[in-house]
Amino acid sequence: MSEHIAVIPGDGIGQEVVPAAIEVLDAVGNFEFEYGEAGDATKEETGDALPPETRDLAAQADATLFGAAGETAADVILPLRDIVGSFVNVRPARAYPGVDALRPETDLVFLRENTEGVYSGHEDRLSDDLSTLTRVVTSSASAQLAEYACEYVDERGLDGFHVAHKANVMRETDGRFRDTVVDVAESNGIETEEVLMDAFATHVCLDPEQFDVVVCPNLAGDVLSDLAAGLVGGLGLLPSANIGEENALFEPVHGTAPDIAGEGVANPSATVLSAAMLLEYLGHDEEGQAVRTAVQDVLDEGPRTPDLGGDAGTEDVTSAVVEHLS
Ligand code: NAI
Ligand code: MG
Repeated sequence: MSEHIAVIPGDGIGQEVVPAAIEVLDAVGNFEFEYGEAGDATKEETGDALPPETRDLAAQADATLFGAAGETAADVILPLRDIVGSFVNVRPARAYPGVDALRPETDLVFLRENTEGVYSGHEDRLSDDLSTLTRVVTSSASAQLAEYACEYVDERGLDGFHVAHKANVMRETDGRFRDTVVDVAESNGIETEEVLMDAFATHVCLDPEQFDVVVCPNLAGDVLSDLAAGLVGGLGLLPSANIGEENALFEPVHGTAPDIAGEGVANPSATVLSAAMLLEYLGHDEEGQAVRTAVQDVLDEGPRTPDLGGDAGTEDVTSAVVEHLS
């Protein structure tokens, strides 16, 4: 293994959890890491939250590991997702043995549309009183997401997936999203079950076991995956992958956590699990699985960070994961 991995820690606890994940990657492989700057601090220094060098780094790397950015998050992560050409954001949310979860039976994956919807940046201030936002939905992006979803469930031996939408109100945009996704699934022989996204929020709290794979538009995936984080024990546990045709970027679902940044107590699990997804993306399935198992063991046995009721630091947890790997 000597793939080039771009590493962009960003702001806040990004500076703590990304080094933890690098330590774990170093323990299972031989990668070349190249570091890039991005985020609030970078903007303050250079006037640009995502300088050209960092853009090039992500574009040229085999994959990127990103931490988080603060107030400049939209100026960093949206272009980065675009640079790697990602069309789907894969967000697994599962409860782990030993972790106090509201819903310990939760084990689902969001496949979130990653390029359009209400995050496409078309906002206007039309007057002192009126601002508007244009929601963009294309059949092509919806179909690409659906094709990925079909492969995803097929590889895992599942029959189908849920489609969360709000086509009863947003008839044109979510109507197009729903119709396209359902059509693609049908032509691949994959079953779909529709669920209105607001009703989904209730269903997933009351009975998460009924969901395995949930395909949804951009904003819905953002909000509902944070909700699922609450069911499994917090944001410190949720990894994610932004997958493109030829490149990909991996990042925890959480942000910079300014309330605990600099204290050395951030939970590294989300970022280490993102690194496990990176390993699998690069074809190192065995190593990815080993990292996941090591994180799972440490979550079960401890040490644990304060967000999970423990009193250990980021480094204690990271060392324990590395120890489990050897
Ligand atoms: P956040 O995810 O940073 O924090 C929410 C809560 O979860 C806080 O109480 C925090 O301490 C806790 N938390 C998050 N990750 C944790 C971890 N690994 N270990 C332990 N506790 C953890 O979200 P918030 O507070 O809404 O946003 C803070 C900043 O992060 C904002 O400036 C926002 O713009 C940015 N942000 C950036 C994202 C990105 O770069 N992709 C995503 C979300 C937020
Ligand atoms: Mg979010």
